Formats: sequence, structure tokens, C-alpha cells
Amino acid sequence: MTPDQAMPIAITQDPVASVGLAQPPAQPLRAARPSKRKRTADATPTLAVPEQPRPAAAESKPSLRVPFLRPSPPRLSELTEGLVAIEASGVFSNYGPMNCRLEEGVLTRIFKSPGECLTVCNATIGLMLAIKQAVGWQPRGRYALMPSFTFAATAHAALWCGLTPLLCDIDPDTWLPDADAEQAMIERHGDAIAVILPNATFGNCLDLARYDRISTAHGIPVVIDAAASLGSVGADGRAFGAGCAHPLVFSMHATKSFATAEAGLIYSADAGRIATLRMMGNFGFGEPRTATMPGLNSKLGEVSALLGLAKLDEFERITLHRQAIYALYRQLLPEFEFQHLTGARTAHQFVPVLLPANLAGRVPEVVAALAEQGIGAGRYFVPHLAEQSFFQASCIVDALPATIATSRRILSLPLSDSITPADIDLVCSAMRRACRKVADAQAHTPRPMVLST
Ligand SMILES: Cc1ncc(COP(=O)(O)O)c(C=O)c1O
Repeated sequence: MTPDQAMPIAITQDPVASVGLAQPPAQPLRAARPSKRKRTADATPTLAVPEQPRPAAAESKPSLRVPFLRPSPPRLSELTEGLVAIEASGVFSNYGPMNCRLEEGVLTRIFKSPGECLTVCNATIGLMLAIKQAVGWQPRGRYALMPSFTFAATAHAALWCGLTPLLCDIDPDTWLPDADAEQAMIERHGDAIAVILPNATFGNCLDLARYDRISTAHGIPVVIDAAASLGSVGADGRAFGAGCAHPLVFSMHATKSFATAEAGLIYSADAGRIATLRMMGNFGFGEPRTATMPGLNSKLGEVSALLGLAKLDEFERITLHRQAIYALYRQLLPEFEFQHLTGARTAHQFVPVLLPANLAGRVPEVVAALAEQGIGAGRYFVPHLAEQSFFQASCIVDALPATIATSRRILSLPLSDSITPADIDLVCSAMRRACRKVADAQAHTPRPMVLST
């Protein structure tokens, strides 16, 4: 869940005060690869969490004519046959029949490629699992290279694995991690980088062949944060990630286009990797009830898998609808800058646009002016990681000119499974009025007088 999606949550415990890892097991997590690199013996950083005020009770918001997101997971109330089947099977978790069907269904209907899928309870846990498996119990380095322009989950997952996020810049057009910035970090930090964690920003397709080359050349494992990408198709016409041996972690959160409630999925063309992740996600049990590797509980319950199966049946139709709506936005807002899309198809979660340059820094006012007209809007990924106090204290930050410039102008417009072209007309007219209003207010704000000396 992202900050703007935050639903009311009852906080019953104080936040965790520090993060540390227990004793290493006897075996590393991956086969030793020939490497000239030395292992670093750096200690896991201790993470002090500042005092957080408890959130106020949720206030009821006035309803909007066009809300930003309208999560539409399949209706459980219409899935009684599946629920009865789960009860009859007596299997409620532990990779039961619904989970198996979901994994198989996503593999054959979305990836259509060799490899395996693994369901997980959410993408954040999926990332932790995949990172841990990729770097082994005693990582060769201490850093996880990722963009600052991503969601908190990516950095948290690395920190829980005992790694320090190294935050790099994005490309100003695709909003994907910038290739030159990543290369500069790899040259500067070399062996100290334990893993690269690129984010396929807003479902846009990463150049996976480039990451493969980097991984081979430098011996650095790669884990792809593909949270919003299920349904995206690469320029080669294949599902994003199909055939890729590096693990890709997808989210099936209620606000994603593949909406369930809480769920995620890991795909890799390397079936052995998925088999290891499956054991790690089941308490590290490599033998019956015996932990042979680091583990946690990442399993998805059968009821959630049933939601996933129902979503799979409608997913192609939903994805095409969202794609058509996105195209309509671009057609109706030609004066705005959109993300440069790199694939043949993007699984759109919402519609991010850049405000005109003269409105940089005025996004909150434009969001407020849209709300006055009954239109919801979101801000992703704002604040970006390097702007968040916890990550400022726990990460290393590179120069971020494109991230900063993009964050000052980015705003996301509504998208949902049920949104209509008439809604888009309303949103686009409201967007123009909102920008005009803020630009006019700006023009009428007296400038501070500069006195010559
Ligand atoms: C880039 C990114 N990574 C990871 C996540 C975490 O996904 P989940 O909510 O399934 O844990 C999100 C969620 O929005 C995300 O946007």
C-alpha cells in the first residue's frame, strides 16, 4: 500500500526499534559463483526509528465525482463455489490447490514462457525473500542499489535483509533507473554492491538484457521490483520478464491493476530459484519440518488465491480497458508531458503526468484545485525515498537531479476498471482549469522586491 492509498489502520504496537539478523546457517543460499571479489565484513547498520505520532482517527472524506483509484478486486460474495471448494478440501494455506492453480494460470496465461511462479502474501515480503535468496546469508557487499524514485517497500525490503540502500537517479523521460547513474554507482562502489533492485516504474518495461549484462560482468545479482507490471508487455511482444532468470516481484494489492486484496507473485525463468524461494517462504524448510536455510512465512492463503484466480479470468479485458483510457488521456491532454513508455503495452495503475514547468513545486495546489471540482489525484512517488526521514537516516544518496525535478511536477490522474470516457472528459477539463487557476494565482502573487545595493 502506498501513502496516498493509506486506509485506516489501528496501530496497536510501537514501531520496531532496531533491525538485526541472527546467526547465519551453515550453507550459503546460492551456489558459489567464481568471483574475484572479496567478501566485506561490514556490520549490519543499526536502524534507529524516530518517534512517530499516532495517526488521528480516520476522517470521512467527501465523495468525489471521479475518485483517484477505485479498487475492484473480484467480489468474494460471487465466489461461493470456490469458497465451498476450499472448505471441502480442508486446505486453507501451504501452497494448496488454489495457489497451485493461480501459479500455473499466471505462468501459462500471462508469461507463456518456461519458468515458474510463486505466490506470496504481498510484494514487500516477496522482495525480502528474493533479495535474501539472491545475496545469500552473508552478502558479498553491504549495499542495495535502487532508484530513489520508488515506493518505500523496496528500501525496507533491502534494510530487512541487512543491506544499505544506495539511492540513484532516474531517467527524466522513462522514470526508470538511469543507466549512467547506475553505472557510476557500480564503478564507485564495486564489490560493496550486494544486489541491484531496479523498479519497473509504473509498469514501464526495464531493459532486462542490460541488467543481465551488468550482472554477468560484475557478478552482482539483480532482483526486479515489478510491483505494478503484471500485464505489461515488452517491446519484443512477450510479457514483461518472460524468460528472465532474475526474479521479478509483482504486487496484486487491491490498488494494482491485478487487484486482489493483499497478494504478490514472484516469477523467474530459473525453476530452481523458485523452488528455493518456495522453501524459504515456508520457514526455510528444505526437509520435512526442518529448516535448512533462512526462512520466513510468505505463503498466500487459499481464499486470497481464489481472488487471484477470479482476477486472472478478467485481467486481459481490464488491461485493454485501462490501456484505451490511458491513450484517451494522452489524446485529450496533448500539452502535458507523459511517461515515455518503453514496452509494447503497459499495465496502467493510474495516469502520471508532469505539470508544465512553470508550475513546478505547485502540485499540492493543483491537487487541491482538482479536489474542489470533485476529481481525485495521487502523488507517486512523492516524497521519493531520499526525502523520507527514515531513509535519510538509513540510506546513501547519490545526486538526484531528474528525481527532484520530476517529483516537483508529477501528479497522477484517475484510472479504474469502471472509469468511462465521459469521466476522462471531466478530469481533463478539470485539470486544465486547475492548472490555470494555480498559474493565475502565481501570476498575481507579488514578487519580493529586490533592492539594489
Ligand atoms: C514499487 C513498489 N514496490 C513494492 C510495493 C509493495 O507491494 P505490496 O503492497 O504488494 O507489498 C509497491 C506497492 O505499491 C510498489 O509500488
